[in-house]
Amino acid sequence: MIGGIFILSGAGLSAESGLRTFRAADGLWEDHRVEDVATPEAFVRDPELVQRFYNERRRQAKEAQPNAAHKALAKLQKTHSAPVYLITQNVDDLLERGGATQVIHMHGAVKDALCAACSHRWAAPMEMRVSDACPSCGAMKTRPDIVWFGEIPYHMDVIQDALEASDLFVSIGTSGTVYPAAGFGQMARQFGIRTLELNLEASNAPFDEMRQGAASDIVPTWVDEILANSPSL
Ligand code: APR
Repeated sequence: MIGGIFILSGAGLSAESGLRTFRAADGLWEDHRVEDVATPEAFVRDPELVQRFYNERRRQAKEAQPNAAHKALAKLQKTHSAPVYLITQNVDDLLERGGATQVIHMHGAVKDALCAACSHRWAAPMEMRVSDACPSCGAMKTRPDIVWFGEIPYHMDVIQDALEASDLFVSIGTSGTVYPAAGFGQMARQFGIRTLELNLEASNAPFDEMRQGAASDIVPTWVDEILANSPSL
C-alpha cells in the first residue's frame, strides 16, 4: 500500500485546458524572451510590458477550464488514505478549480497581485497596472505574484518536508529544466522514494517508471490504479 504521494506538476498538466507551455515549438518563450518579461530586471526596465504579459496570461487562465487530469488529482487527494501533496510550477488555479486544496504554487499565482513594498497579496484586477496602489500600504509598486527567474521559489521548506514524508514522487507534465523543481526527482531518489513520470515526452531524468501520453488520458488512469490498490479514507 502506498503512503504519502508527492506530485510535482508543470505546464503540461494545463496544456489540454488551452494554456501554453513554455518550451514547445509554440511555447511562450518562443514569443517572449524571458529576460524581457520574467525577471526582476525586466520589471524595472519596462514594467508595463511585464504587466501586459501577465495580464494576458491572467485572462487566459481565467477563461481556461480544469481538465480531467486536474480533476483526477483532486479526487486522489480527497480519497487516498495518505496525504497527497500537490506542488505545482503552474501559476494558474485549475487544480483548485478542479477541486484540489492546499495546492503549493512554488512559482506564484497569476490571479494575485503582490506589493513589492510590503509584500501584501490581493486578488489582481484583470488589467493590472504598476500604478495600482497597494490596498495595505498605499505604495504604487504593484507586481504580479509570480516568482521570476533569479528569485527564490515559494514554500521550499514545506516542499522539502512533504517530499521526506512521501512514499512516491510523481512528475506530471514538466520538462524538468528549471531548478529547484528539476532537482526534486534526484532528492526523492536520495531518500529512497520511488519515482514516476507522466509526460507527453520523456524528460531526460532517470525515473523508476515513465508513462507517456497526454495528461488528461494517463493521469486519471494512474489515479484509478492507485485508488484501486489502497483503502480509501
Ligand atoms: N500532457 C502531458 N504533458 C504535456 C502535455 C500534455 N498534454 N503537453 C506538453 N506536455 C509536457 C511536455 O512534454 C514538457 O515536458 O509538458 C512539459 C512542458 O515543459 P515546459 O514548457 O518546459 O514547462 P515546465 O516544465 O512547466 O516549465 C517549468 O519554467 O519557464 C519556467 O516558470 C516557468 O514554471 C515554468 C518552469
